Amino acid sequence: MAPVSQTKEMPAAVRALPALSVRKVRKLYNELEAIKNVSLEVAQNEFVSLLGPSGCGKSTLLTMIAGLLKQTEGEISINGTPVTGPRPEIGMVFQQPVLLPWRTILDNVLFPVELLKLPRDKYVPRAMELLAMAKIDDFAGSLPRQLSGGMRQRASICRALVHDPAILLMDEPFSALDALTRDEMGVELLRIWQANRKTVVFVTHSIREAAFLSDRVVVMGRRPATIVEEMTIDLPRPRQISLTEDENFNRYVRALRKAIEASHGH
Ligand SMILES: Nc1ncnc2c1ncn2[C@@H]1O[C@H](COP(=O)(O)OP(=O)(O)OP(=O)(O)O)[C@@H](O)[C@H]1O
Ligand SMILES: [Mg+2]
Repeated sequence: MAPVSQTKEMPAAVRALPALSVRKVRKLYNELEAIKNVSLEVAQNEFVSLLGPSGCGKSTLLTMIAGLLKQTEGEISINGTPVTGPRPEIGMVFQQPVLLPWRTILDNVLFPVELLKLPRDKYVPRAMELLAMAKIDDFAGSLPRQLSGGMRQRASICRALVHDPAILLMDEPFSALDALTRDEMGVELLRIWQANRKTVVFVTHSIREAAFLSDRVVVMGRRPATIVEEMTIDLPRPRQISLTEDENFNRYVRALRKAIEASHGH
């Protein structure tokens, strides 16, 4: 896939800042404390996964980082600027695909381009390339209801990538995919990430997926969420699926499983 606006040269001052900084964030939904106290820094171009039990607040955290929900306490900054609303440098894949039912798949993928008032004509070839990468280019003219759940999810990944955002927030993006497609999409995501220098925050329930994709895995405890463990995954890149048979890889998987079991009290 040909990158569009790639070689984004960042000013040195921005390069030195963390891409994302979450400081002492707390979130209450009325009386319910979803997030107790989370602090997290993600470096420019780092790939970080969040692992945590269902209901611990992962989607809540991601939605706040995206500027779509306000935290109750604490501060979230992107490239040093506090988040007060949605920002063009962010692309988000929601846990549910949320496609507009009356728009074709192509027009759904082009939605961020429209919101950001970018030239549509320039982005149609890129959207089509992304759809081909996700193996749904034959459905560009179809409506979301004509696609399966996994195909809709792949379309929503294309939508998050279309405007080439510097920061990708992905909330269990591969959960509706079969194992083989899931592995393929993971490798493809790494390829895009490596070719286009993106910062990724990736939520998953899969320890193996987190270990395979990430530079660092952050483990969250039960609600109200805090960070209970962080592990740097020091494995060579580029990574291919064969890495998952490697003993070093499996050592990380075991260590992560142990950390999760200890923190979640299994
Ligand atoms: N809009 C909302 N209003 C009230 N409570 C909410 C809202 N959204 C989430 N919650 C609550 O906040 C907690 C965290 O929810 P969240 O969706 O962030 O969890 P999660 O870690 O993403 O879970 P999962 O892995 O199942 O997707 C849950 O107890 C949930 O009931
Ligand atoms: Mg969630």
